[in-house]
Amino acid sequence: SESGCLSIIVLGASGDLAKKKTFPALFHLFQQGFLQSGEVHIFGYARSNLSDDGLRERIRGYLKGASDEHLSQFLQLVKYVSGSYDSGEGFELLNKAISEYETSKNNESGSYRRLFYLALPPSVYPSVCKMIRSYCMNPSSHTGWTRVIVEKPFGKDLDSAEELSAELGQLFEEEQLYRIDHYLGKELVQNLLVLRFANRLFLPLWNRDNIANVQIVFKEDFGTDGRGGYFDQYGIIRDIIQNHLLQVFCLVAMEKPVSLKPEHIRDEKVKVLQSVEPIKHEEVVIGQYDGYKDDPTVPDDSNTPTYASVVLRVHNERWEGVPFILKAGKALNSRKAEIRVQFKDAPGDIFRCKKQGRNEFVIRLQPSEAMYMKLTVKKPGLEMATEQSELDLSYGLRYNDVKIPEAYERLILDTIRGDQQHFVRRDELRAAWEIFTPLLHDIDGGKLKSVPYKPGTRGPQEADELNKRMGYVQTHGYIWVAPT
Ligand code: BG6
Repeated sequence: SESGCLSIIVLGASGDLAKKKTFPALFHLFQQGFLQSGEVHIFGYARSNLSDDGLRERIRGYLKGASDEHLSQFLQLVKYVSGSYDSGEGFELLNKAISEYETSKNNESGSYRRLFYLALPPSVYPSVCKMIRSYCMNPSSHTGWTRVIVEKPFGKDLDSAEELSAELGQLFEEEQLYRIDHYLGKELVQNLLVLRFANRLFLPLWNRDNIANVQIVFKEDFGTDGRGGYFDQYGIIRDIIQNHLLQVFCLVAMEKPVSLKPEHIRDEKVKVLQSVEPIKHEEVVIGQYDGYKDDPTVPDDSNTPTYASVVLRVHNERWEGVPFILKAGKALNSRKAEIRVQFKDAPGDIFRCKKQGRNEFVIRLQPSEAMYMKLTVKKPGLEMATEQSELDLSYGLRYNDVKIPEAYERLILDTIRGDQQHFVRRDELRAAWEIFTPLLHDIDGGKLKSVPYKPGTRGPQEADELNKRMGYVQTHGYIWVAPT
């Protein structure tokens, strides 16, 4: 492992993302010994006029489960620099602070590492990246690196994303840019490759001969909660489906990579994205929950979807004819994210079930991580009857002594280690926008209308109907009793 000075610079340090995700993730890494007191410094940068202690006070409340001693050790590593996002002065000051720390370290043999985390709205990415490039790069006389973490949204459609990519591409090498999609840091998302390619059981089944349909579902039981202004410009497809669910889709649908090298994995993701057929309007349902427009920052005539169900079809040998239903919604009846792989009926049924129980493999990403396979079994007892049951691997039971790390924790550590496997490559981003841009333009242009749904429900009924049309069979609780 590398040694030397590590400077982590959180830009947008007083914002929501930094407080809720970035600083807590850094703190957890510190607690677990990945960020050593002697080797790391954390710089918060934002426009607000704050002192070091001012920033520390702001983030303290978000750092849970810590002893006071631990907490103050961590907070001692945090410094604050204030400045604007588009003028040289602030970034000169920032660079001075970083350099002072580096020279104070008597770091002759070690390397100098600078990690910039942009917890900022994307509108300022280009200017901030220019400033970093002009004022804050690791000097060429130093060994080590400069890396930049950026968060979605990466643009609003294909053209704007390409423009942003080109701008950033002029300033940094692809190896320096870490495009975060925090779903790639979730335990059960990271498990997908192992599950698919290390288990003989699944290898021959994972294709159109055996799988009837796949659902990738995200549900939240709260609305846009004060983020209406941001959300209304993006909508659920850009907020969740085009990135988080599409990344999950890639890992479910892609071919086996040559190896686990980041480039090999990302090559396969790009390939499967390029095999996705154009989305058909009749295979899309969009919805908006009643009350969404009560937010004063949302225009009264907004058509922005807070719910969407979109069918993707993969034009290749493995998946021809298998619908992948990507579904996401806010203000629904529960909070959960899961993948449901539904298998076809067993042919030559001798049980003469009116409705055959289907095998369904469910991977629950959250809450309470689990994998379970729905099976048809003999109902225990004297009667000859079948019912649906589960082979169940619930992490809370099986791995109850393991603390599952937060996505951001893992991804920041990956960045420090220089592992881009769980980050989105430029051509992958492009392929993702190619899939969704025509649909998004049609929605923005009013060619598709959001249907209303009641908050706290399953979402629009039209989506259940779409599921049915896609051949999804609801078999929950099914019991069959043999005729005597
Ligand atoms: C973010 C979206 O990327 O992911 C939010 O912008 C959403 O709208 C969040 O709430 C969901 O993340 P998680 O990890 O809670 O599923």
